[in-house]
Amino acid sequence: MLDLSDRFVLTTGPDGRPACELRAFTHGLMPVTVPAMMQAFTDDWAVRGVDAWNAVPDHWDIGRPVGWWTLPEALGDRWIAPILGAAPGTCVMQPNVHWTVAALLSCDGPFEGRTGLVLSEAEFPSVRHNVRQWGGLREIAMAEVAAPEGRLDVDALLDAITDNTAWVFVSHVGFATGELQPNETLRAIADRAHRHGALFCVDGYHATGSVDVDVEAIGADVYVGGLLKEASGSTGNSYLYVREGLDLRPRLAGWFADADPFGFNAEPRPHPEVRRRFLAGTTAIASLYHAVEGLRVLLDAGLEAVRADSLAKTGLALERLDAMDLPGLRLRSPRDPERRGAMVILEAPEADRLSRWLKTRGVYTDSRRNEVLRFSPFVWNGREDVERCLDAIEEAVSTGAHLRYEAPAEAGPVT
Ligand SMILES: Cc1ncc(COP(=O)(O)O)c(C=O)c1O
Repeated sequence: MLDLSDRFVLTTGPDGRPACELRAFTHGLMPVTVPAMMQAFTDDWAVRGVDAWNAVPDHWDIGRPVGWWTLPEALGDRWIAPILGAAPGTCVMQPNVHWTVAALLSCDGPFEGRTGLVLSEAEFPSVRHNVRQWGGLREIAMAEVAAPEGRLDVDALLDAITDNTAWVFVSHVGFATGELQPNETLRAIADRAHRHGALFCVDGYHATGSVDVDVEAIGADVYVGGLLKEASGSTGNSYLYVREGLDLRPRLAGWFADADPFGFNAEPRPHPEVRRRFLAGTTAIASLYHAVEGLRVLLDAGLEAVRADSLAKTGLALERLDAMDLPGLRLRSPRDPERRGAMVILEAPEADRLSRWLKTRGVYTDSRRNEVLRFSPFVWNGREDVERCLDAIEEAVSTGAHLRYEAPAEAGPVT
């Protein structure tokens, strides 16, 4: 099993010792190199001032001259394209997925002569809310396929695609189920969409950094995701891939996306590079300094090795769960390794209390809707972390200790 714990700063448990940190699926740990990168940002700003927009030292191993102006696409070529199996010129950094989806829906081209948009109830709100908001701005005939317990019904989704469909949206790994859609499934959806003249967008947030993605094999026209989770970037580190030759023109494009930004013209003109059209106003630069430090670690190990390690560790957790056979607990995430993402999701009564009680033991998981407990042993966790987590779950569920635990009020459920 991989142990890359020396490449990350481990969170601290209630006893002051490193916690058993199992929340990679929601916000990865900070790579040890991040403080130096943030220092590099302040140094570049201090030494170069506004000239940093034109040129800064190559802190990202890009291998060509770079300045803040071109950093979003330079990072796209150097770091995002390789993890997606994408060609140079197709990827760009973005502030968050919500912005990117909004920009996609603002493109007129896909909606010419069509109004249909196919998605499922399993999509994250960055897609679902966007579609509903845009429904008030342009004519959208939304086909939202039911997803019992958050599971994608592939046949129903395929059936919903028609000659009126402009876009199909699917998650690579479901956030509520941890279910990974195999390449063949995604390819079948892509083929059906393309036969009907529709575009296929995959939300790969929960695959990024834990699965070796191949956008060409899955036939995605567009792939969106972020480095915040397993890839251990932080906020402001999302990205977009647009397949070569797809001429999208977002109406939400800002002046940073203009073909002649310093002409300060009244009429916007789309940038010749499609990916650049997805920039808005002035790019938030500081977040691009910490963006790829986690990817650096994962790519050093190799994404295939990271995936194999994740499967080994989640497999170990599943073996322990089977052996314990605790009443009331039910596995919601897939057992099949072909279908398993990096998360283990357990239906558990009083899941919120269970997660909070585990925290008192220095075991950091999270819960959703008081229904499920989620945890994800990742590259910084050893076998003993998996054991420690499962021991603590066993103790809680078999004694009911968590049901008696009155947790101090927390600011919010953001874990
Ligand atoms: C599948 C999926 N998409 C997108 C997001 C986040 O999107 P945004 O960058 O808009 O916050 C998440 C966050 O948990 C997610 O699980």
